[in-house]
Amino acid sequence: MRFLTFKDVSFGYDKERSIVSGVTLDLEQGEFCTLLGRSGCGKSTLLKLAAGLLAPVQGEVLLSGTPVRAGADIGMVFQSPVLLEWLNVLDNVLLPVSVRHKPNATQHAYARELLAQVGLEAYADSYPQQLSGGQQSRVSLVRALIRSPRLLLLDEPFAALDALTREDLQVQLAELVAQRGMTALFVTHDISEAVFLADRILILQDGAVAQELKRSDAGDRSTRARYGEQQLEMMARARAALEGER
Ligand SMILES: Nc1ncnc2c1ncn2[C@@H]1O[C@H](COP(=O)(O)OP(=O)(O)OP(=O)(O)O)[C@@H](O)[C@H]1O
Ligand SMILES: [Mg+2]
Repeated sequence: MRFLTFKDVSFGYDKERSIVSGVTLDLEQGEFCTLLGRSGCGKSTLLKLAAGLLAPVQGEVLLSGTPVRAGADIGMVFQSPVLLEWLNVLDNVLLPVSVRHKPNATQHAYARELLAQVGLEAYADSYPQQLSGGQQSRVSLVRALIRSPRLLLLDEPFAALDALTREDLQVQLAELVAQRGMTALFVTHDISEAVFLADRILILQDGAVAQELKRSDAGDRSTRARYGEQQLEMMARARAALEGER
């Protein structure tokens, strides 16, 4: 089923320059798509259009057939964890709930369950400044999941992490998304990350989708798949596409 749809979407921050140009795109429910492109090609802008944080100048963005609205059924993870330093980990995770109403016991329990799932059960009462960068990234990921959104949008969430932590978090993210039947759009400029996580890789150039690559072994996030033949072959294709070859 079509879930997130871009219909001939264009956007510019000013009239002179188009940043996203005529993007048409369908994400199926449950699909994990990565958006790969060079710095400045319009990835974050496209993600903000998907989140309803920016409105298209032309075309439309639909979520389950209706125009997308900011906050509706969408979890967003930004490049930096943006945690509130005066709130402990549990309250940071519960923030999307507590801005609306006082979290109930079920929501508290769910927050703890999600924290446990990313190995942070012992940190619920800690404050952000007591956590490592990787732990803070986990908290911001869990926070995006607390309201059980059906669509998860991630903007280079692991860019600042060391390679091993990054690999662990990629696997945890893929598991969380699959378990909860979420649809994910993940922005990165890291070729191996884009290829490993994706069912489908969208290559963005100058604000347009230049090419799409599909994995035939989609869903396999084992270490074997990470260093397997298909990963390498797809990385080479993605790289060639980024350099403008067809
Ligand atoms: N708020 C803004 N006002 C004006 N121009 C902007 C604004 N945000 C981004 N831009 C411009 O739009 C273009 C695309 O920016 P965007 O942030 O979407 O790129 P990106 O692909 O996410 O890059 P990166 O990989 O560096 O994060 C850039 O040229 C940028 O300067
Ligand atoms: Mg960006």
